[in-house]
Amino acid sequence: MREDIKSRIRNGHPWIYENEIDKVEGDFQDGDIVDVFSHSRDFVGRGYINSKSKIRVRLLTRRNEKIDREFFLRRIREIVEWKSRLVKDTQAFRVVFSESDGLPGLVVDKYADYLVIQIGALGMERLKPLVLDALVEIFDPKGIFEKSDYPAREREGLEKVREWIYGKGPELIPFEMNGFKFFADTLGQKTGFFLDQRENAKLLKDVADGRTVLDVFSYTGTFSVHSLAYGAKRTVLVDYSERALEVAKLTLDENGFSGRYELVSENAFDFLISLYRSGQRDFDMIILDPPAFAKSFEDRRSAYRGYKEINLRSMKLLPDGGILVTSSCTRVVSEQDFMVVLYDAASDSRTRLQLVKKGGQPSDHAPTLNIFETFYLKFMVFRVNKMR
Ligand SMILES: C[S@@+](CC[C@H](N)C(=O)[O-])C[C@H]1O[C@@H](n2cnc3c(N)ncnc32)[C@H](O)[C@@H]1O
Repeated sequence: MREDIKSRIRNGHPWIYENEIDKVEGDFQDGDIVDVFSHSRDFVGRGYINSKSKIRVRLLTRRNEKIDREFFLRRIREIVEWKSRLVKDTQAFRVVFSESDGLPGLVVDKYADYLVIQIGALGMERLKPLVLDALVEIFDPKGIFEKSDYPAREREGLEKVREWIYGKGPELIPFEMNGFKFFADTLGQKTGFFLDQRENAKLLKDVADGRTVLDVFSYTGTFSVHSLAYGAKRTVLVDYSERALEVAKLTLDENGFSGRYELVSENAFDFLISLYRSGQRDFDMIILDPPAFAKSFEDRRSAYRGYKEINLRSMKLLPDGGILVTSSCTRVVSEQDFMVVLYDAASDSRTRLQLVKKGGQPSDHAPTLNIFETFYLKFMVFRVNKMR
C-alpha cells in the first residue's frame, strides 16, 4: 500500500482503491479474503478483494482474526445489542448498515419476524452462507429475503437476486413502526421500505395538525400516514410508481385513513408545474423526498438543479405560514450544498425559510465520521413566510 494514501485507511476508512496498491503477492481469486500490509510490512487489515472493482479491497477487520461464522456472530450480536438501546417503538430497523457497521457490502433490515438483506460486493456474496447462518442463529427469523437488485452489483460482476433464501414469507411484509402499520414490499424499492425516514417522520408531529398535505415522491406513504395521524385534514400522494401507490393505499386504509387521501401516479416535476399553472393553492404543507439525483461528484450540479426546481415550485405554491418539508438522500450533495440550493430557491421566490426542525440519519443508519460516504440523508422542516 502506498505511503501517501495510508492515512485515510489508517484513520478508519475500509476501502483500498486499485491505484493505492503497489504490489500483490500470492495467488488469489476474486472474492477471496486477503491481508493488506503497509510498505513497512505493518499489518493493516483483512478483507475481500475484487480485481474487477475500482475498490480493490474492502477491509472487514483490522485484527488478526478469522473471517468465519464466529466472526459474523460476534460482529452482528454486538451491533444488535448496541442498536437495541437506541431503536425504540418499532418492529423494523436497519440491523447492519454496511461500511458504517463494519460489514462492507452488507445491508440487513429487520421487519417484524422477517429479515431482508442486500449484498453489494462479490466478497460478501462469497461470505453469504456464513452471514445467513449467523442471522438465523441470532434472530431465528420466519424468513430471509434477498433483495440484491441494485445496479452496483453489475460493477462487481454479480447477477440480480430477488428471492426468499431462508424460510418463506409474504410479498408484502407487515410490521409496526412509530405505532402505525406499514408493509415492506419485497417487489418494491430498496429493501422494500425507506426505514431511514423513521425518526424524521415523527418530526411532523405538531406541524401537520390541520394541514392539507402534498406528499411528493411518496413511495408507500410513510409521511402521509404520519401527517394524517398527527391531525392533517387530507393528503395527496404523488409518485410515478403505481405499485408504490397501491401499497400506499393498503397502508393508509389499514391505518384507518380511508377517504382522507388521494393518489396521483404522475411525474412529480410535471405535477408541480401543472399545479402551479392551474392556479390551485390548496396545500399548506408540502413534503419533498425525491430519490438520489446524482451518483457521482461530477454529476452533483444536475442534482442542484433538480433540488432547486422542486423546492422553488413548492415555495411558490405554499401560502404564508405554510410548511415545507424537504429531504435529500444524494450522498454527493452535502448538507451545506443543499442549504445553499434552498437559499437560492428562497431568494428567487421571495420566501423567508425558518428552520423549525431538522432530522437526518436515524441511529440505526448512523454515519461514521471516518467514512464520509456513509453520510447521505438531509431532512428539514421549514416554516414559510412570504416577503411580499
Ligand atoms: C426516496 S423515495 C421516497 C420515500 C418515501 N418518502 C418514504 O418515506 O417511504 C423516492 C420516491 O420517488 C419516486 N420517484 C422517483 N422519481 C420520480 C418522479 N420523477 N416523479 C414521481 N415519483 C418519482 C420513486 O418511485 C420513489 O417512490
